[in-house]
Amino acid sequence: MNVADIRISLIDLQQRFHEERAELLACVERVLESGHFVLTPELNDFEEKIAAYTGAKHCIGLNSGTDALMIGLMAMGITRGDEVITSPISFVASTGSIAHVGGTPVYADVRDDQNIDPAEIEKMITPRTKAIMPVHWTGRISDMHAIQEIADRHGLMIIEDSCQSMGATYHGQHGGTFGAVGTFSAHPLKALNATGDAGFMITSDDAIAETARRYRNHGLVDRDTCLDYGVNSRLDVLQAEILLYRLGRLESITERRRHNVNLYRQLITAPEVFIPPCQAHEVNPFVMFLIQAERRDDLKAHLESKGIMSLIYYGTPLHLQPAAKRYGYQRGDFPNAERQADRVLALPHHQHLTEDEIAEVAGEVNAFYGV
Ligand SMILES: Cc1ncc(COP(=O)(O)O)c(C=O)c1O
Repeated sequence: MNVADIRISLIDLQQRFHEERAELLACVERVLESGHFVLTPELNDFEEKIAAYTGAKHCIGLNSGTDALMIGLMAMGITRGDEVITSPISFVASTGSIAHVGGTPVYADVRDDQNIDPAEIEKMITPRTKAIMPVHWTGRISDMHAIQEIADRHGLMIIEDSCQSMGATYHGQHGGTFGAVGTFSAHPLKALNATGDAGFMITSDDAIAETARRYRNHGLVDRDTCLDYGVNSRLDVLQAEILLYRLGRLESITERRRHNVNLYRQLITAPEVFIPPCQAHEVNPFVMFLIQAERRDDLKAHLESKGIMSLIYYGTPLHLQPAAKRYGYQRGDFPNAERQADRVLALPHHQHLTEDEIAEVAGEVNAFYGV
């Protein structure tokens, strides 16, 4: 779709800048004026506020959500030969992080809401299983009470890919606090977003926190002493300052996004479209708004012809990616995930979308199906 033809865009980060211009530029000025850019007290402040907000004991600021996953797994002791059960519906980084620490990703199929099905997890457990990595897709938290029960019964650890679920709760508890480690991306498309790559992990385990904190800074315990080799994954202080400012706005932005999704729900009435319902015990910040639609590709083309952008998010489940070939999966292994990948479509969704725009998108979806 040519940019010039887009009337209703999927996201609008420029509008966000215009809304926050004065405060963002003040953040930039504060950091540049300070002359301190690496591992500063501002970063500590950010980490303390995130820990307090989520209810975790520790937060460690990192370069990305992918690093949070990799460093989290490493700090939990996941290593060569260990199996980690995860979801085939995710961004590649969930599986990629397991592979990078030498582990073996093992998939379990998803429910209608695109989150991992606890009953399927149970079937995949072997003597080599060490951990479960649920992915909270779009921000909706997986069925964590059932997953915790399975993990406890089998002596398994949990690392949550909560990269999309900042601001999300399940029975009043924040995403990322149900297992040993919770991982977050602050990529520009997330609910709490930086102006570039950024991420963090949370944990209430002192030993995991200490290992991760050391590892993100080359394994140094002080300027001259390296205990074990690490990487450079220190959250950029400028991004930390911006995220700290945006943390104060997260709830109002989440409210606006949830309001938009509720409106979509009321207005899209075509029976060919399935929108996973929200349950009373969950708050989903809706990082994306995904529908599952019959004749999805034709619907996408129809929307495009009306100047409405949409995106297939994603069309290939992780077990069918070329990179996963070595694990021997094939089409048919995870029918729910495969069916969803064939039907899923992200509609325009952000906090600046107007009610008229939502009504227009919903109207075009209905019109496509003759409703
Ligand atoms: C579910 C999920 N996991 C992991 C990641 C990786 O995060 P990042 O892009 O910050 O590395 C993302 C972000 O795109 C994500 O959506």
